[in-house]
Parts: sequence; structure tokens; C-alpha cells
Amino acid sequence: MEKIRIAVLGMGYVGLAGGMAYAKHGFKTICTTTTPSKAKNLNKGIPPFYEPELEELVKEMVEKGMLSGSTNNIETIKESDVTFICVGTPSLPDGSADLSAVKDTAKDIGTVLKNKDDYHIVVTKSTIVPGTTENLVLPILEKYSNKKVGRDFGLCMNPEFLRQGQAVHDSLNPDRIVIGEYDKKSGDVLERIYSGYDCPKMRCEIRAAELIKYAANSLLATKITFANEFSRISEKFNIDVYKVMKGVGLDFRINPMFLNAGCGFGGSCFPKDVNAIVALSKKIGAETPLLDAVLYTNELQPMHFVDIIKDTVGDLRGKTVAFLGLSFKPDTDDTRATRALPIIKRLYQEGAHVKAYDPKAYYKFKPLTDLPIEYMDTWEDALKNADFAVVQSDWQVIKDIKPEDFKTLLRNPIVIDGRRSYDPEELIKNGITYRAIGWKNLND
Ligand code: UGA
Repeated sequence: MEKIRIAVLGMGYVGLAGGMAYAKHGFKTICTTTTPSKAKNLNKGIPPFYEPELEELVKEMVEKGMLSGSTNNIETIKESDVTFICVGTPSLPDGSADLSAVKDTAKDIGTVLKNKDDYHIVVTKSTIVPGTTENLVLPILEKYSNKKVGRDFGLCMNPEFLRQGQAVHDSLNPDRIVIGEYDKKSGDVLERIYSGYDCPKMRCEIRAAELIKYAANSLLATKITFANEFSRISEKFNIDVYKVMKGVGLDFRINPMFLNAGCGFGGSCFPKDVNAIVALSKKIGAETPLLDAVLYTNELQPMHFVDIIKDTVGDLRGKTVAFLGLSFKPDTDDTRATRALPIIKRLYQEGAHVKAYDPKAYYKFKPLTDLPIEYMDTWEDALKNADFAVVQSDWQVIKDIKPEDFKTLLRNPIVIDGRRSYDPEELIKNGITYRAIGWKNLND
């Protein structure tokens, strides 16, 4: 293999941000998608979703001829040495992952490998439960190629740990790279691809790599849930949970990350992955009382937030709420499992009306509900004449709203904060009634 050529099957966050990073590290990379407009746009340097800094880097790589888009898996695999499977694995109703896209891409790869002489390496990068690469992908590859893994082609599993909103940073500067390998030769090639990445690299068996991904996401979700549970305890004691978690996080064995209490974790990963590992564990007879509690608590937390809202403003009937932030977190237009949805649904059940503001997420949020939400162009429009403001996602533009703005635009200067977007003392000093998850019980 001279210069390794890379095929990335899938143009989501993992596929495109990863593909851009391979291109930036000097590997010619083609990303595929089943949607022709996405491939066409990528070839003009336009990514299919919003992610800070992604567009400029994608444009640069496309212009340099290092990155391109295609809808043709077969041709793309033919022209590559290493193929990464980065397709989506959405949740099925029972919590398990829908693997149909993984199977389809494995068939395409197998079909190409049948007539390919060089030692092609297949890498699963989609989040898949332990055993999927060896029990599902491997047999499909062997069946369609009529070849033998480890002898005629190689197989690895290489989980991705990037965060949305920081996808560019994380894919260029990962904190670790995990290489699960079927055969040493394939692991060596992956290590060569990642040789320019300055971080620890860990090699292990394929199943361990698959489970590391679930364990990491489950632990992060558990940390958040732990902080959320303490937010309720803190509220009863009139203590600020952020101070408590600061003190806890200063222990180097714990660290302060992912201890921010809020209205629960959302997104395409934590809810899906914790559900998937719980569903699989139940199937194979492993008990998961801790993760069951994490999932349960995460559904309670948005309801607890509405209880705080009601406790602050009383009866919600006829009230207009300025709802700030619809995406599952800032810096992304993604609304999958956003906590905004259960909160807004309950606000309507309680008789309120919502004027919402989000910098990017309307087009992904609107299809999620038929509720008569007013989608406002600016945060000023959302605040104007609303009875009070609620923050669900702490975009910088929302964090930059000044106490005077709340005072002049809202009917009542009340801010109820689900993400600790503001300094409570600052708002209270400026005459705002401030309530938040894990903040003191009263404005005292
Ligand atoms: C998460 C992980 O952080 C990544 O390492 C992983 O690669 C990714 O899932 C994935 O499996 O693909 P992501 O879902 O993009 O990344 O976003 P996070 O920053 O982890 O936030 C997830 C949710 O937790 C958000 O709703 C966020 O508001 C919430 N959160 C996060 C808190 O409530 N408190 C915190 O302290 C941190």
C-alpha cells in the first residue's frame, strides 16, 4: 500500500468529520451517502448539517482534491484500500439498534472484495453492540466476497468518541484512539493512518472496542444523571448544585467534566446507546439496575424542570413562555432526543403557549410536533411580551442576553434556567427572579 486511500460509508457526524480529518492528514478520502443532494453539495464544499468550522475545512479539503462525496459505494470501495463503515444505527422501538444500513454496506463491501486482489481493510466505526462486527459484518463480508477474513482481507473496529458541536476539534484532536483488530496486519495499517494523531492509541480485540464505546457513553450519561440527582437534593437544602459538583470535580479521580446538572441528556448518542446496551444486556441475562435508573431519571428530569417552572410562576394556563434553545445542546442543529420536546409538550398540557427561539434548529424541530409553537426569528421577538423566559439549550447568543433585555422585553422579569446559562447572582442583583435546576429553592 503506497498512500492509503480511504472510503467512508456514511456522511453523518462520524463519517464526515472523520473523513475530513483523514483528508487533512493527507489521505485521499471519499465519503458516500444514499442522498444524491448531499453528495453533490459535499463536492461543492457544503456539509449536510451545521457544525462549527466544518464547512471551511470541508471546502478546503474538497478544493485540494483530498475529499469528495459520492452515492456509489461500489466504485468508492473499489478505489480505496481501507473502508470505514460509518452509517447510522438508529434505535428500534425495543431500544436495540437498527442495523440495516450496516448490513447493506457490508454487502456492498463483500461484493467489491470478491474481485479485489489487494488486502483490503474493513473498519466498523458505527456504534454497534459487542459481537456485531464478528457475528454480523464478518459473515456478510465472507459470504459476498467468497474470501476469508484475516487471510484475504482485514477487519477492525474503531469506535468514535467525538461530540457534536465540537466534531471538528474532536476528530482532529481525539483524546484516544481505540483499535479493535481481528488481525494484527489490519491493526498496523490503522495505526499508520492514525500515526499523525497525537494521542494514546490502544489496541484490543474487536468486541472490547465495541463495548468500550457503550461503556464510555454510559459512564458519561451516569455522571450527568448523578449531578441531576444531586440537583434535587441541593434544591431541598437551598444549596447550589454547581458549587457542590465543583467541589466534587476537583478530586482528580473524578474530574469536573459532565457534572453539569440540567434538564437531562439528549442527542443521538447517550439515550440511544444506553438504551441499546440495556436492551442487549437484558436479552443475554445481564442485569443493569444502574443504567435502568439512569434512563428513568433522565425522563424525570425535564418534568422536574417543569415543576420548577410551575413552582416559580404558578398556574401556567394562558401564560406565554419565551422558550430559548430547541437543539439538544448548543452549537448543533440536531434535535434528536432534545429535552425541549417533553418540556414543551408538558407546557402545552398545562395550558401555556410557547414562543420559541433557536439559532439553527427550527427545520429539525418543527417536524417533531404539531403543537402551535410560534418560531421567532430573534430572541428579542421570543422575549417580547412573553410572561417569562425558559432556557433549554445554552447557545452563546442566549447566554449573551443581558438582564436589562429580560427586564425590558418580558412582561415579568423571570428567568428559569435549565442549563445554568447565567450567573444567578448577577441576574438576581439586577432584579430578575431567577430559578434554575439545582439552584436554591428560593430567591434569597
Ligand atoms: C456524546 C459523547 O460526549 C461523545 O464522546 C460521543 O462520541 C458521542 O456522544 C457519540 O456517541 O457519538 P454528544 O451526544 O454529541 O456526544 O454530546 P454531549 O456533549 O456529550 O452532550 C450530550 C447531552 O448531555 C446533551 O443534551 C448535553 O446538554 C447533556 N449534558 C452534557 C449535560 O446535561 N451535562 C453535562 O455536564 C454534559
